[in-house]
Amino acid sequence: MTTPLRIALAGLGTVGSGVIRLINENGAMIAQRAGRPISIVAVSARDRARDRGVDLSPYKWVDDMGDFGSDPDIDCVVEMIGGSEGPALDLARTSLKQGKSFVTANKAMVAHHGMELADLAETKGVALKYEAAVAGGIPVIKGLRDGAAANRIERVYGILNGTSNYILTTMEKHGSAFDAVLKDAQDLGYAEADPSFDIDGVDAAHKLTILAALSFGTAIDFEGVEIAGIRNIMAADIGQAKALGYRIRLLGMARIDGGKLFQRVNPYLVPENHPLAHIDGSTNAVVAEGNFSGRLMFQGAGAGDGPTASAIVADLIDIARGDCGTVFSMPIGQMGKSARAESGNRTGKSYVRFVVTDKPGVLAEITAAMRDAQVSIESLIQTEKAEEGSVLISMVTHQSMERDVVQSLDKLSNSSSLQGAPVVMHLLSDED
Ligand code: NDP
Ligand code: HSE
Repeated sequence: MTTPLRIALAGLGTVGSGVIRLINENGAMIAQRAGRPISIVAVSARDRARDRGVDLSPYKWVDDMGDFGSDPDIDCVVEMIGGSEGPALDLARTSLKQGKSFVTANKAMVAHHGMELADLAETKGVALKYEAAVAGGIPVIKGLRDGAAANRIERVYGILNGTSNYILTTMEKHGSAFDAVLKDAQDLGYAEADPSFDIDGVDAAHKLTILAALSFGTAIDFEGVEIAGIRNIMAADIGQAKALGYRIRLLGMARIDGGKLFQRVNPYLVPENHPLAHIDGSTNAVVAEGNFSGRLMFQGAGAGDGPTASAIVADLIDIARGDCGTVFSMPIGQMGKSARAESGNRTGKSYVRFVVTDKPGVLAEITAAMRDAQVSIESLIQTEKAEEGSVLISMVTHQSMERDVVQSLDKLSNSSSLQGAPVVMHLLSDED
């Protein structure tokens, strides 16, 4: 009998229990493909008594998952806890230091500590794998690191958060209320433990930094991502975008601009004829442009137990085959640091929406601020009473420098007519 790859599972929630189900159901086929069985030997979570819908009795329960690192009967630790710091990070450090291979679904930890952990893995000659951390079941890490390895990638962008996409597209199709759809996404197991990571763009930013590091060979730079989420998007914005021939999608966007790294997560107005406008529900899609491959698009389920378990077990199969690979697309010592590109220098059209007090002169005040900042307006719609005494003003600018749009809004920041901060979304174009 071939020696199995002996794994320990840390975290038995949506993803952890999905991994157990997948290995139970497909174990024999996986053993054929990997050349040896993958055998769960130990498990750990917070609450031993919790019913997880899977039988844990065949496995050793370990209260202190820190013990996995020193257990000679464990070859590989799988982390499905979450959080950039705390028990997940402690476990990663101790496991790698003690020469265990490590598989994780934790994009927050990779985004904040990926370079340190990759260094540890490479020093110890063990695997650090994280396919599940970006875009759920889509093999995009492997696609970029291996499949597109011969290319210079010019830019990488896409829909990277299943929860936000589920919320936006359900609001778009069924006119549902934001909070109710978020609750559905949580019930379906898509959302992070703290769903503000999803709706405020942080989770997408974690994933974007990983894609950027893989694509451009630059060190991960989470602090360099400009982040805005979907929390303030109203049904009226979705309606206005539709009237203009666009759909709203939360996009992560990374590119090298004049030798500098540009990274942004922001809701965009995506033209209806663009493939990303047709990505619905918790589906994710990543577009990468290689200088020889041309445009590559990876699409599939971005969240949920099954797709995420599929990505984790794919990493385990690689490890069982003895295929550690590099952690990123090149050895860590060769990854350079990039200066940050300034978004203010970018030009494009923007959608800007204000909620204002319904009184004479307010429109003139807004258009004057735009004029003074050299931003010209392509179209403007004043509509729908948000509530008694207030109106929505939505506009699309002509091609403008982003810094000028910001300046025009700064001029209005003390205006007593504005009810809350304006929402700004860029219109996706080929230049982004
Ligand atoms: P869950 O909240 O469903 O599960 C988390 C698990 O970690 C639980 O079993 C919990 O134990 C355990 N845990 C939490 N804190 C501790 C702690 N301090 N000590 C020990 N165990 C702890 O999360 P998910 O399964 O959804 O997500 C896990 C990871 O996978 C996260 O990094 C997430 O970002 C990532 N991910 C999730 C996806 C998804 O669709 N859900 C998709 C891709 C990645 P207990 O059950 O006893 O409370
Ligand atoms: N909360 C994440 C999402 C899970 O909604 O995309 C998958 O990473």
